[in-house]
Amino acid sequence: MMLPIILSGGSGTRLWPLSRGLFPKQFLPLVAETTMLQATLARLDGIAACRQPLIVCNEDHRFIVAEQLRQAKVASSAILLEPVARNTAPAIAVAALQAVQGGDDPLLLVLAADHVIADVAAFHAAVALAQRAAETGALVTFGIVPTVPETGYGYIEKGRNSERGMWNEIPMGTYPVSRFVEKPDLATAEDYVASGRYLWNSGMFMFRASALIDELTKFSPEIVAACSAALDGASADLDFLRLDATAFAQSPEDSIDYAVMEKTDKAVVVPLSAGWSDVGSWSALWEVAEKNVDGNVLKGDVLAVDSQNSYLHSANGRLVAAVGVADLVVVDTDDAVMVAHKGQVQRVKKIVDMLKASG
Ligand code: GDD
Ligand code: MG
Repeated sequence: MMLPIILSGGSGTRLWPLSRGLFPKQFLPLVAETTMLQATLARLDGIAACRQPLIVCNEDHRFIVAEQLRQAKVASSAILLEPVARNTAPAIAVAALQAVQGGDDPLLLVLAADHVIADVAAFHAAVALAQRAAETGALVTFGIVPTVPETGYGYIEKGRNSERGMWNEIPMGTYPVSRFVEKPDLATAEDYVASGRYLWNSGMFMFRASALIDELTKFSPEIVAACSAALDGASADLDFLRLDATAFAQSPEDSIDYAVMEKTDKAVVVPLSAGWSDVGSWSALWEVAEKNVDGNVLKGDVLAVDSQNSYLHSANGRLVAAVGVADLVVVDTDDAVMVAHKGQVQRVKKIVDMLKASG
């Protein structure tokens, strides 16, 4: 049996002003008619022996999650509520600890709620392969064939077949991980992409719940201790399982990548070529969205004349008109208009930081 764990705790700040603290990008219909969370749930259809998903999200978002599940007609096995964000290692730890309660030890398919995957059949094939690798005790990560030296991703060096060593029982088409490097600098990323030996870490994983708990206990026992206590003190409320706030706050803040994947010798990678994007910025959204002959993405009430390769979005019924511009991002919402060069959109986060600082 496989238990999907959906991580839905991100804040999506680089997609401001559409993505907001109280309504981040995973809850928005940014790419399709359904929201990114709903698309993630729909992508589980057709995976064999798949249980009802377990969602891990911030307490503030509980009603949004419940409502979006209801709309999508998906029942969850539980919605775990985090009182504070502690990054992905604690979020996955509480899910794994919850999964082994009652003596069970399912395979966990850990997915982010805010990714785009164009080719669902290829994704399902990779999941089937990952399942076979995870059954041997490996911690499996899905690796994306890189196209550009992106510095916002983790990189995975594929091991050679001769290095299979203790992993010679993993299936063909999967590779032992020689090295895992979270978010390298640009020069390093350029070398990695040129070498052809590296894949992007997609942030999607598969492992047995106990295998993850064992490795995390080895490298970060404080996280496991705090998460166990948070689960012991959790209170059930409708479909929600509210973690104990004091205990969970004791957990160190860390990503699963730093806490486990960089350190473990049990990492295995399954390459995935499926039109994947984590839609982390407006330019990434422009990349995956449908464009007209001029390369423009036009959303809502928008007119463009002699303009190219731009993302123009009216989210409030007001007309947005562009003349003679190129490579622009314009997003109009009720209370904010953002205009940015498409090559500078990583820095939208700075606006959010400035807004936070000014209260
Ligand atoms: N429940 C919960 N709680 N979810 C969280 C939390 C948390 O505290 N923090 C992050 N998440 C979710 C986010 O919603 C997102 O879907 C996913 O976990 C990854 O978190 P990000 O914050 O977006 O990580 P990142 O983009 O910096 O880096 C990760 O993803 C990249 C690919 O998108 C790393 O895994 C990289 O190695 C990877 O390349
Ligand atoms: Mg991300």
